Amino acid sequence: MSTGVREIPLARPLLDEREEELVVEVLRSGRLSLGPTIERFEELVAERVGAPYAAAVSSGTAGLHLLARIAGLGPGDEAITSPISFVASANCFIFEGATPVFVDVDPRTLNMDPAALEAAITERTKAVVAVDMFGYPCELDEIRAVCDRHGLALIEDAAEALGAEYKGRPVGGHGASGVFGFYPNKQLATGEGGVVFTHSEEEWQLLQSLRNQGRSYSGGAWFHHVRLGWNYRWTDVQAAIGIGQLEKLDRLLALRAAAAERYGSLLAGTDVELLCADDADHRRSWFVYVVALPPGVDRAPVMEALRAEGIGTAEYVPCVHLQPYMRETYGFGEGLCPVAEEIANRTLALPFYPQIEEDDQERVADALRAAITTGR
Ligand SMILES: Cc1ncc(COP(=O)(O)O)c(C=O)c1O
Repeated sequence: MSTGVREIPLARPLLDEREEELVVEVLRSGRLSLGPTIERFEELVAERVGAPYAAAVSSGTAGLHLLARIAGLGPGDEAITSPISFVASANCFIFEGATPVFVDVDPRTLNMDPAALEAAITERTKAVVAVDMFGYPCELDEIRAVCDRHGLALIEDAAEALGAEYKGRPVGGHGASGVFGFYPNKQLATGEGGVVFTHSEEEWQLLQSLRNQGRSYSGGAWFHHVRLGWNYRWTDVQAAIGIGQLEKLDRLLALRAAAAERYGSLLAGTDVELLCADDADHRRSWFVYVVALPPGVDRAPVMEALRAEGIGTAEYVPCVHLQPYMRETYGFGEGLCPVAEEIANRTLALPFYPQIEEDDQERVADALRAAITTGR
């Protein structure tokens, strides 16, 4: 529906001639899948985050699924994750037949509260999917200590957190296995795609086999399948875009951080809450710009007012355990994770991308301020 005003989208990747050039090179090479461009990307991204190994896959979800498979999850097992996330953090182990358990978040970081995690462990618990939501690093050390104490597999869902730093080192470089995602709204955008980072050579080899139909990688015939696997292969065309994006990642992250700072100034003096402030241990990589409306303001009309002005917005992000299929399948309902539910009812995402213009951010802030005043 056209509103007659210039639209400001919620997200938009920043691509230029460099990605075009790299894609054309791949097209001319004829190596569209399982080629050298993927390997090059894997090396570059691993180096960037300080992980020894990386395996590219067709999506962040695919990568999480492979890690759930490697964790050996199955029916009768429980896996614990955060309700403030995208559904894939839980779906990845539901695919393997495990039961999801959601624990509440820390109100300051909106990531999994390690104390709540420890309290939820039962003799059936086998794995934890810790999420770096909104690009803000989770309490990885504390969560890992809990996992070690109880013999649980740890998977880091860093789909939103490429470029973030935890305790002075990049997310991905801390020893846990995890995933970055490359959907077009992400810090590094390739259309679709993801990469699993791992610190284990054995796991890396397994990932290469599992993403390619369980094919053997220790020599032997090409059509030699030693385990059940999937077609979770990425393409060299996407890897070419990824290399172009990696080359300019510092600039992309700086532009995102500058846009976030501008929103911060523009919204100062309103009573919207800005979330997840950086501190000595947590340096966020700006992924989305999410604000919480003041309690008592009805979110739906605020979002409608923004949309009427051509401003992209979304409820970001509804609690995973309250998604219709989660309620129907597992009987989850309101009250399970009160901190997460309270904040998720008030949050919304504003247009946010590296090249967003200052004028547009002013338009967004003005529209938001007006909508809140009317909505009281
Ligand atoms: C927290 C989180 N986990 C997992 C995913 C899944 O990534 P993908 O969309 O690449 O499958 C996303 C991405 O959208 C995400 O935001």
